Amino acid sequence: MDFKAEIAASIAEAVSLDTNEILGAMEIPPNPEMGDYAYPCFRLAKTLRKAPPLIATEIAEKIKAPAFIKEVKVIGAYLNFFTDKSFFAKEIITKVLSEKENYGKSNEGDKKAVVIDYSSPNIAKPFHVGHLRSTVIGNAIYKIYEFLGYKCVGVNHLGDWGTQFGKLITAYKLWGDQKKVEEEGISELMRLYVQFHEEAEKDDSLNDTARAWFVKMQDGDEEALTLWKWFKDLSLKEFERVYKTLGVTFDSYAGESFYNDKMAAVVDELKEKNLLKESNGAMIVDLEDAKMPPCLIIRTDGGTLYATRDITAAIYRKKTYDFVKDIYVTAIDQNLHFAQWFKVIEKMGYDWSKDLVHVPFGLVSLESGKLSTRKGNVVLMEDLLNEAVKKTAEIIEEKNPDLLNKEEVARQVGIGAVIFDDLYNGRIKDIVFSWQKMLSFEGETGPYVQYTNARACSVLKKAGVTEVSADVDYSHLTDDAAVEVVKLLASFNDKVKDAADKYEPSIVSRYLVDLAQAFNKFYHDNVILADDENTRNARLAVVKSVSTVLKSGLALLGIEAPEQM
Ligand code: ARG
Repeated sequence: MDFKAEIAASIAEAVSLDTNEILGAMEIPPNPEMGDYAYPCFRLAKTLRKAPPLIATEIAEKIKAPAFIKEVKVIGAYLNFFTDKSFFAKEIITKVLSEKENYGKSNEGDKKAVVIDYSSPNIAKPFHVGHLRSTVIGNAIYKIYEFLGYKCVGVNHLGDWGTQFGKLITAYKLWGDQKKVEEEGISELMRLYVQFHEEAEKDDSLNDTARAWFVKMQDGDEEALTLWKWFKDLSLKEFERVYKTLGVTFDSYAGESFYNDKMAAVVDELKEKNLLKESNGAMIVDLEDAKMPPCLIIRTDGGTLYATRDITAAIYRKKTYDFVKDIYVTAIDQNLHFAQWFKVIEKMGYDWSKDLVHVPFGLVSLESGKLSTRKGNVVLMEDLLNEAVKKTAEIIEEKNPDLLNKEEVARQVGIGAVIFDDLYNGRIKDIVFSWQKMLSFEGETGPYVQYTNARACSVLKKAGVTEVSADVDYSHLTDDAAVEVVKLLASFNDKVKDAADKYEPSIVSRYLVDLAQAFNKFYHDNVILADDENTRNARLAVVKSVSTVLKSGLALLGIEAPEQM
């Protein structure tokens, strides 16, 4: 039963309007004295040509509220609905316990395709903290859309093409050592790349050599491509380790190089559509009418660019997946890049340009000096993740030295802490990495939510019941703490939807903290394993429901939920 929808239907009937119109404006009041659901009547003032409080009063007199509503009260311009608490608890808990891990899911996506472009590091360069954010946010958006019935396609749009690889080949051929590259991987490639720039300052002809190598790559030269492929494989091996630790996977690794042979057709199309203009020897799409600098398509030396590949990739994805949304998760400093080429797609006459979504996020800074950095200010992600696991292992050793499979739990909690910390604030906010904050078992952290779930699991274990029954006496669940928990359980799907609409996983993480806090209050206020069997069974049903939803919610964020910690 959808409580909100039923209430909306009863209002709609009272004023002879469409239910959906009413439903969209329904609210959940911030405090229980204002009821469980509310409808702001000023929405109807225009249509009904009356003062909002008067409308509220008239509806309250007329309405045939659903059976689960105990009272309808007018407060100012609001109609406030008070549910029969035990009836409400019964509906929600029965639903959670029967649907289990499917509770909160919906089919609204109708299997339509959503492409999510996330992580997308550059080969031969370190996987930095910005890529970690993209990975974690993108992965959560993927899971959230999947939960709502969409068919998600996760794409790792690797930065594996461009003039920089001409530079790298040049540097390797001049100063590189095969063994060293094999042993040290990306960090040695980085060193060569830096050396190239230093030497090219003194000797500009190196730049010509680099350009020539990239042209060879574009033309399919075997030697050039073999080296490039080797750099790519080495890099991927390092990235894969990070993905494995994070538990993140992709459906496609079609990166920039994948579009090498597909760009010419798009450039032709731009020409045919009269969008391509020459400017100082380069080819651009003018965006003056959109008040943006031009989008560079072909460089003076004939090379293509990042934007050329993005435009080509979007057209390819539309053809291949027929997406309803194509989402790009990157740092905020790429805002202009996306705005520009989205505009180019629009100018090409593709109405699906409106389905291209850039999801930017803020920067990460590091508590000064607290993180080991092997290379300048680029913290290697592996170091960071390993450090999180190590620190968590120390905490477990101190708090719960007898825990079984300590190592596994340290991994789940340490990694969960990093992910949760990243997803807790609105994504646009800059974040400061703080071990102390993120690893705390109290406060608004991943370990806190995981710990709450583990506590629920341990109560269930202690109770010794394998299957918690929903056939309980719900009159035992009318205390404030229980009601608050039930209300939160009821709003799970709404929160997930909201997170999807706003591309904002923090809505889910904040919800989980609220649910954990409400549950801990319930746990504190009530003896769960009460002597009275009816009371005990009712409370166990709450415990099981909370554990179920915490686990589902954590999974949406890409975080595991250990049963003991
Ligand atoms: N490789 C880019 C970077 O590291 C991110 C790519 C994002 N995706 C895209 N389709 N442009 O900054």
